[in-house]
Amino acid sequence: MRFHQLVTAAAQLVAVLGLAACVSAEDESSVPSESFAEHMHGHLDQISAVKAAVIAGDLEAAREPATWLAEHEQPPGMPDAWSPYMNEMRMQARIAASATALETVAAAVSEMARSCGDCHQASGFAVAFGFDQRPPEDVQNVMTQMQRHLWAADRMWDGLIGPSDKAWGWGTEMLSEVTLTSEQIPTEPGDESQVDGLVQQIREVGNEGSGAPAGESRSAVYGRFLSLCANCHNLTGGGPGG
Ligand code: HEC
Ligand code: HEC
Repeated sequence: MRFHQLVTAAAQLVAVLGLAACVSAEDESSVPSESFAEHMHGHLDQISAVKAAVIAGDLEAAREPATWLAEHEQPPGMPDAWSPYMNEMRMQARIAASATALETVAAAVSEMARSCGDCHQASGFAVAFGFDQRPPEDVQNVMTQMQRHLWAADRMWDGLIGPSDKAWGWGTEMLSEVTLTSEQIPTEPGDESQVDGLVQQIREVGNEGSGAPAGESRSAVYGRFLSLCANCHNLTGGGPGG
């Protein structure tokens, strides 16, 4: 198996919020055209909306972008050899679109991200993501802990889609810096032990993720990880925009 250099380390460290650029591997021969890249940006917007819905614990918000991913036309001029990845992505999108539990969407969107990464790998492209600066280390409260969670979730996500071992590693490493305790979280009486359990599981997932080889082990870890965000936000009424 060969590895594709993403971008120079220096360029990756530059904080470019939300910008994704594509860097081709050594061989610049294959298909792509401008419209293909645009098509890919559409993919990224829609799949990221599904993931954000899961994190927010909002099952309904996942349906529309998942349906788009399941039903959209494949880009013109795509080599037949790439069809299996497209089919896998669509199948998982259909599962997400009709799911009745957030755990199902969490797992499906993670498998989708893996098939994005598989096709990028197979086609000799790696998507390089710019990203926001790491949350400051000296401030420790629920908000900064959550920003760490989100930063980690976004890097691991980039790691699946890129694919990128580096981005995956940054994400799981950040998780080990999360020092959240249940006492910090406003909890209904009786829910404390459940919240404690979720905090503990996030930590375990981080540990497991850091040792997971690229491919299905990572997407499985990621699916469990997203479910934990969703479960705790629904339990506590917290979360992005909540
Ligand atoms: C069938 C193969 C295939 C699948 C599946 C696929 N991609 Fe791509 N993707 C490519 C190729 C090839 C390129 C390089 C295109 C170019 O920029 O020339 C690319 C490029 C990209 C880019 C960079 C576009 C640019 O040039 O700025 C992004 C972002 C992207 N893909 C996201 C995704 C996401 C997200 C998914 C999954 C939901 C996905 N892709 C699924 C083949 C695929
Ligand atoms: C143990 C419970 C718990 C877990 C697990 C959890 N969260 Fe949260 N999250 C909360 C609570 C509670 C809030 C609301 C905090 C507040 O308003 O003070 C919150 C808020 C947030 C916010 C909004 C912060 C802001 O700046 O407004 C984001 C983003 C977030 N969480 C992301 C995540 C992600 C991503 C995960 C999974 C990797 C996750 N959280 C896992 C309990 C949790």
